[in-house]
Amino acid sequence: MPNGFISSSEEIRELRDSLDAQGRKLILTNGVFDLLHVGHVRYLNEAKSLGDCLVVAINADESVRELKGPNRPVYSAEERAEILCALEAVDRVVVFSERRASRVIEAIHPHIYTKGGDYTPDSLIDEEKQLLDRLGVEIRILSLVAGKSTSATVSKMEATESEVPKIAILGSGKGSNASAIIEAIEDEKLAAEVAVVLSDEPDAGILEIARQSGIAAIPIDPGTEKAGQLTDAAIKEIQDRLEAANVELVVLAGFMRIIREPLLSAFPERIVNIHPSLLPKFPGLQACQKALDAGEMESGCTIHLVDAGVDTGKILRQEVVPIQDGDTVESLQARIQMSEHQAYPEVIAELLLRD
Ligand code: GRF
Repeated sequence: MPNGFISSSEEIRELRDSLDAQGRKLILTNGVFDLLHVGHVRYLNEAKSLGDCLVVAINADESVRELKGPNRPVYSAEERAEILCALEAVDRVVVFSERRASRVIEAIHPHIYTKGGDYTPDSLIDEEKQLLDRLGVEIRILSLVAGKSTSATVSKMEATESEVPKIAILGSGKGSNASAIIEAIEDEKLAAEVAVVLSDEPDAGILEIARQSGIAAIPIDPGTEKAGQLTDAAIKEIQDRLEAANVELVVLAGFMRIIREPLLSAFPERIVNIHPSLLPKFPGLQACQKALDAGEMESGCTIHLVDAGVDTGKILRQEVVPIQDGDTVESLQARIQMSEHQAYPEVIAELLLRD
């Protein structure tokens, strides 16, 4: 990678060995480092303070496109390297072409490896963690400046340019609500663009519905078999995808896993869910069955903001659906879904109008 600002990993390995011989420490961190902001600068200063020489491994352009979407990076690897080298904290920059940093970590064998605070040691992918453990590298997770990220910067800039707000839909099932939302957009009842659809079920109907409408449809590995849960790595991947798609609102439509921090704080009061009961009655699974078992005269749907609880967030709209004699779970569900399909696009439109 010929550019005076980019070193090869062999050069860095030699540097590491000579530092080692002097009892000094080489710190390695990696990332995209596109459009630097104050969060980067503070992070790199903190990383440097842990040792003597700070090496930043940056993703090559092709892998940034894969990770962050077709419009990134804004700056080429050569430019990113030049800008990074201008920072006092940064001693060397290397470029790596894989999505993961394992090869460069192995080649350099740093004394200390740092990651930003949106990672936990558990959200480092297993491959990287095992490698770092095997090499005896110290792992340090450093704090990040809240609200500062390149994706947030790009979002701000794009938000002022684009007229139509972007939304994401997350679902695990057949996707009838997603269909209703897409239809409302096509019928110009909802001024929005569905920028991305994510699902924890690779074969879910909702992904097929998105594809048929030309919308990016991305399966997310939940990282665990445990019902209702997402690993830290899965939460991070969802957040990365939502930020890369630059969405203003996250719409859950039958998403069967619990959304939690840090994703909740990344979209404060901007994650909305639909539930097939009149909350606070019958939260959680099998809401229609529970309403029938309880001998209710009526049920319905609730659209609410998502908080850390299960179906506990602020209620935005409820639609009542009477329970009829002889109703089964299926017949009740079908009528509730008809009211969902009407109400959900309307509430989304109201939310997007709010600042
Ligand atoms: C909806 O009935 C919603 O209330 C519940 O999950 C169902 C999703 O259905 N949270 P679909 O995938 O939108 O058809």
